[in-house]
Amino acid sequence: MRKELVKKAVAAALRVRRYARAPYSGFMVGAAVVTKGGRIFTGVNVENSSFGATVCAERVALFSAITAGRDDVVAVVVAAALDGHAVSPCGICRQTLADLNPEMQVILVNAETGEIEKETTVAALLPDRFSFDIPNP
Ligand code: THU
Repeated sequence: MRKELVKKAVAAALRVRRYARAPYSGFMVGAAVVTKGGRIFTGVNVENSSFGATVCAERVALFSAITAGRDDVVAVVVAAALDGHAVSPCGICRQTLADLNPEMQVILVNAETGEIEKETTVAALLPDRFSFDIPNP
């Protein structure tokens, strides 16, 4: 991905993080996904009093892209800070991202410093994943 586009996506994930709805955990996460054509869609974690109904920022961003008719997602940025470090997507998000594109780039941003701490792929984070391997018609 172009450096400028990475910068824009990182900024978008950091910016949107303030809207996270996390009254129970207090843990704010911002995410941004990038499509092949360079479009950026954002998401935040949305917690619920019925805890299992909580949705992570990564899935909100991904579903936002899909809702806009874009399923050619090539990268996801996650902005958060836990003990002064970036965080990696949870298992449910890894599976959800992998279903769309296992080769998706994953960019982990430290929300305290604004710096990229790690770059990897969904496939690396979720080896031997479960898959029906059925493309969306
Ligand atoms: N969370 C995310 O949004 N993304 C992650 O990568 C890790 C966890 C959210 C879910 C919940 O609202 C809070 O962080 C604590 O788990």
